[in-house]
Amino acid sequence: MTVAQGSRVVVVGQGYVGLPLAMRAVQVGHTVVGFDLAKDRLDRLRRGVTFIDDVTDDDLADALGTGRYTPTDDPADLAGFDTAVVCVPTPLRDGAPDLRHVEDSARLLAPHLRRGACVVLESTTYPGTTEEVFAPILEAGSGLRAGADFHLGYSPERIDPSNPTWGLQNTPKIVSGVDGPSTAAVTAFYGDLVDTTVPAPGTREAELAKLLENTFRHVNIALVNELAVYCHELGLDVWSVVDMAATKPFGFMRFTPGPGVGGHCLPIDPSYLSWQARRALGRAFRFVEIANDVNDNMPGYVVSRVAEHLNRRRRAVNGSRVLLVGLTYKRNSGDARQSPATAVARRLSDLGAELSAVDPLIAPDEVPHGVALVACTPEAVEAADLVVVLADHDEIDWELLERHGERVLDTRNRLTGSAVDRL
Ligand SMILES: NC(=O)c1ccc[n+]([C@@H]2O[C@H](COP(=O)([O-])OP(=O)(O)OC[C@H]3O[C@@H](n4cnc5c(N)ncnc54)[C@H](O)[C@@H]3O)[C@@H](O)[C@H]2O)c1
Repeated sequence: MTVAQGSRVVVVGQGYVGLPLAMRAVQVGHTVVGFDLAKDRLDRLRRGVTFIDDVTDDDLADALGTGRYTPTDDPADLAGFDTAVVCVPTPLRDGAPDLRHVEDSARLLAPHLRRGACVVLESTTYPGTTEEVFAPILEAGSGLRAGADFHLGYSPERIDPSNPTWGLQNTPKIVSGVDGPSTAAVTAFYGDLVDTTVPAPGTREAELAKLLENTFRHVNIALVNELAVYCHELGLDVWSVVDMAATKPFGFMRFTPGPGVGGHCLPIDPSYLSWQARRALGRAFRFVEIANDVNDNMPGYVVSRVAEHLNRRRRAVNGSRVLLVGLTYKRNSGDARQSPATAVARRLSDLGAELSAVDPLIAPDEVPHGVALVACTPEAVEAADLVVVLADHDEIDWELLERHGERVLDTRNRLTGSAVDRL
């Protein structure tokens, strides 16, 4: 089965996941409606100004230039779609999955659903969502039946923002459907966009595979974070311990410690698994609970290490000038969502530290309250009692920081000098 080039494709949600997908669909020849509710985002998209790392202004200009990409919040533009893909947020509310946006998207699409069209959910969620939550709303609003009248499937996104090696096109994509014809339709759609599709036996397996991937990362990061705390108490260098273990060519995968986890995925997705385990089995998914506990405590641990460092130099946190380096949640990304740096800044501020920060990638309105954003200059570094490295963007002047290593606490192991205090 193939999807006709020039199909009408709707992508609901033009964020970190939906925008790259929309760009790729335009590239392969589809006519794409990028639907979103955020007026500021739509304004930027129409002006060709990107707001995410993986889509450049040139990419947007190319897409807009074809005349086949329409960013919109007008539901009338959805009429007559062949394929609709839903990439809206799936946050937590009071520790439970909040599927409001997924449900709203189904209500949005249903009146435009036609016999033979295909709908795919991409948002990360717990197994059963596509068939038990998404499908009934589509069916009720359209009068059509999933499988019998329209194709329906789930295909999790694996995008790793700022990863220079693995992007949308060359990362294998899991595809699934509510029945054989739906799986074939979803596979055909993605077959045009990506190099490799991986058919799942059903939508629930595809949904759970995504949660496994993110829980695997979350648990392994928690493991090395706990190891970092343990190593510090024993007077061992956790980084060389990890490096030694990573020389094993089989049965080990390298994860590195840090100030905590952030972004849209790790602080949220594993809790979908634990929530469902509680609901379906009456018990928590223990690995998730432990990983949440360890990773959520890392910003507080970093603050205790700041206090320890300053104490060695006969200083208190209260009144000290602390320069935070890197405020976003990961290297070379401007994404500050749930960044552990925000929690570190809040706690240091509560203890009376005077905070400034260097981050060439963060949007100014994402800088935590009370933190002055400054340039990475010798004056800024010399004015600080302590520099705390929280995200190691390539654009930062690491040689400058290395020269002041005796006043640096590095949670990312970016600086190698012997004077540097490392996590
Ligand atoms: N960011 C990642 O690295 C990543 C990776 C894999 C999977 N995911 C998953 O993909 C989904 C989307 O994540 P994201 O990072 O793209 O989020 P995002 O916040 O960057 O983008 C989501 C967009 O959806 C819009 N939106 C919300 N409700 C809407 C509605 N009812 N109709 C239309 N638009 C609506 C928002 O305005 C926003 O622009 C989530 O389930 C997430 O867990 C994210």
